[in-house]
Amino acid sequence: MKFVEVIDLNVFGDHRGSLISLEENSAVVPFDVKRVYYIFDTKEDVVRGKHAHKKLEQLVIAVSGECNFYVDNGFEQQMIKIDRPSKAIYIKGLVWREMMDFSDDCVLMVLASEHYDTADYIYDYDEFVREVRGIPLSSLKKG
Ligand code: TYD
Repeated sequence: MKFVEVIDLNVFGDHRGSLISLEENSAVVPFDVKRVYYIFDTKEDVVRGKHAHKKLEQLVIAVSGECNFYVDNGFEQQMIKIDRPSKAIYIKGLVWREMMDFSDDCVLMVLASEHYDTADYIYDYDEFVREVRGIPLSSLKKG
């Protein structure tokens, strides 16, 4: 079962070079784009991310260089190499994600469905697993 979508983006190419266009509320970007951010100058031995989102939808593209994108839905894990500007990952909601093995020239661009909101983040892996398995935190508390 796939819980993230790997998308081959349509490339408009001719003798001058290549162009990719992304439009909000389209088949490839099925959300309002409220935020765009990009990650660059990340050292090769660094692991970024290490969190899940509760609701956020994102489209992730290495517009330059490459990196590995690790995803985990609490049951299954997948390592996806993002290594060309025409390869996108669509990711939604409760998925643990880590980005690693950044090339020096990697620019990882992310289109996001919401403004930056720390309340949408889950930073603790155990909490994430409880959340995906539908175990309310309150039932685990003693007393
Ligand atoms: P962080 O969440 O640590 O990045 P990553 O998920 O790649 O490991 O974000 C780094 C810093 O940037 C942190 O101080 C929060 C800030 N930030 C924003 O202000 N807005 C944003 O949209 C994002 C993604 C991060």
